[in-house]
Amino acid sequence: MGIPVSGASGYLSAGLAILLSLFPISTTSATTPTTTRDGGMCRSKSLLLEPRAFELHSCAWCYQYAARSDSIRAHPTQPYLYVINNRTSLPSDTAVLVPDVTNASDVKRVCSTVPSAICERWQECCHAARRCCQRQLQAGHRVNGTCARTWDGWSCWDDTPAGTVEYVTCPTFFRYPVLSSE
Ligand SMILES: *[C@@H]1O[C@H](CO)[C@@H](O)[C@H](O)[C@H]1NC(C)=O
Ligand SMILES: *[C@@H]1O[C@H](CO)[C@@H](O)[C@H](O)[C@H]1NC(C)=O
Ligand SMILES: *[C@@H]1O[C@H](CO)[C@@H](O)[C@H](O)[C@H]1NC(C)=O
Repeated sequence: MGIPVSGASGYLSAGLAILLSLFPISTTSATTPTTTRDGGMCRSKSLLLEPRAFELHSCAWCYQYAARSDSIRAHPTQPYLYVINNRTSLPSDTAVLVPDVTNASDVKRVCSTVPSAICERWQECCHAARRCCQRQLQAGHRVNGTCARTWDGWSCWDDTPAGTVEYVTCPTFFRYPVLSSE
């Protein structure tokens, strides 16, 4: 199942095709210790996911924000990256990449698609997301009437009472000294 990527631009390397394979998506396995609080789920964007699925979903979005690639994107809801086959939309016969920062071979595959500086930022973001999931799990039961704790793609938000204003620090891994003037 060779994946044609001839129309792709960006950082795709010729070696990528052999690195891609269809990957059975499981949202039930967990590598992170879970607690019973809040169902042991973590929120990534608007999705409430089990920790393993959260890690892959958030890390896929980290890639999208860090790499800004036209040819590889985070799936909107599934915990993987997909290669855009001739700029069609969602994966049907397209290939996927597993954005697992705890797996050296997965990291190598993902990082083969971007320069090393982007690879480092991507991994920092993924690790920050993992810490955010732990923070969410340890935060205890949600209080009624609060905006839910969440990882929004690059920042970690705690439960916030409705009508109040919360601030978080701009993450160092997404500083764009050149691109921010776009
Ligand atoms: C992409 O689409 C163009 C025109 O629609 C077609 O000629 C080309 O073969 C396609 N390439 C791939 C890799 O599917
Ligand atoms: C790492 O990822 C590769 C490819 O996705 C997989 O075959 C391997 O089993 C994974 N290793 C671990 C320790 O999960
Ligand atoms: C949560 O708050 C809403 C609005 O104040 C209220 O209608 C609802 O009954 C509350 N739910 C619980 C479980 O306390």
